[in-house]
Amino acid sequence: MTNISTRFNFFTLAVALLGAALLTGCAREKKDERIVLGFSQIGAESEWRTANTESIKSAAATSNIDLRFADAQQKQENQIKAIRSFIAQKVDVIAFSPVVETGWDTVLQEVKAAGIPVILTDRAVTSDPSLYVGFIGSDFVEEGRKAGRWVIEQFKDQAGDVNIVELQGTVGSAPANDRKKGFEEIISARPNFKVIRSQSGDFTRTKGKEQMEAILKSETRKIHVLYAHNDDMAIGAIQAIEEAGRKPGSEIKIVSIDAVKGAFEAMIAGKLNVTIECNPLLGPQLMTSVTEVVAGRPIPKRIVVDEAVFTMDTAKQHIQQRKY
Ligand code: AHR
Repeated sequence: MTNISTRFNFFTLAVALLGAALLTGCAREKKDERIVLGFSQIGAESEWRTANTESIKSAAATSNIDLRFADAQQKQENQIKAIRSFIAQKVDVIAFSPVVETGWDTVLQEVKAAGIPVILTDRAVTSDPSLYVGFIGSDFVEEGRKAGRWVIEQFKDQAGDVNIVELQGTVGSAPANDRKKGFEEIISARPNFKVIRSQSGDFTRTKGKEQMEAILKSETRKIHVLYAHNDDMAIGAIQAIEEAGRKPGSEIKIVSIDAVKGAFEAMIAGKLNVTIECNPLLGPQLMTSVTEVVAGRPIPKRIVVDEAVFTMDTAKQHIQQRKY
């Protein structure tokens, strides 16, 4: 009887020790494991987006974060699929740049139910803020205001109408909605400043060119200003204006947003008047936030990026220092 009991105790102790050893091993293994980040990118629609992707990939590599990157080719359904696949892969954190503002509630609820924290980058959503831990990106309304202020300043002495053509970004996207809103907020104080045409060029050069071609063909009123929600659409529109035998930058003043290298080249060539900076280099801040969240520390709900305004006159001075 005693023998059986002694053997039983040895067995129990051996199992307990083995269990403890396994647990310690697992804990160490977990500690050494890399953080897994699932990131759903919108696509590659602009020079800005290419710089943003590059920033995220290189910051993940230097932070030793295992990045699972998915390109949605500008389709919300592809982003939703990617997010569901990140849930299935049990990643540590999910980050994404939402192509449009609405339609995320269901998938964000699914991520919440899986216990995975979400960080938004670049663009906002209209969903309940409790569905994500933080949002890193620009103040798009302020960018629109800056564009509006520049236009008012340029034409402040003009007594008659100032006719403005607007090329909007992707329909339903936060930057298109907010840049329109900010611009209108400023120019609405001056009734002679009129947006006479407003079309979406989907943030691409090709569509910016197509839309501008159509506008130039059908518009009989003088166009004083082109306001493009990004540099790529402005660059496409510049081609259309030149092909129509008109002079971008002088006959039609052009203001756009992003401050990518292509915009600096257009400003140096005298074809673009001003670009409002929108910083795509969000990778390092995203990786810091991911690390903090995984460590269980809180991150700011909103991280806004500092940005400048660059004009034609100073473009040459700045182009060498531009990182994108
Ligand atoms: O969301 C940021 C915007 O998206 C950039 O202004 C634009 O170029 C991009 O495609």
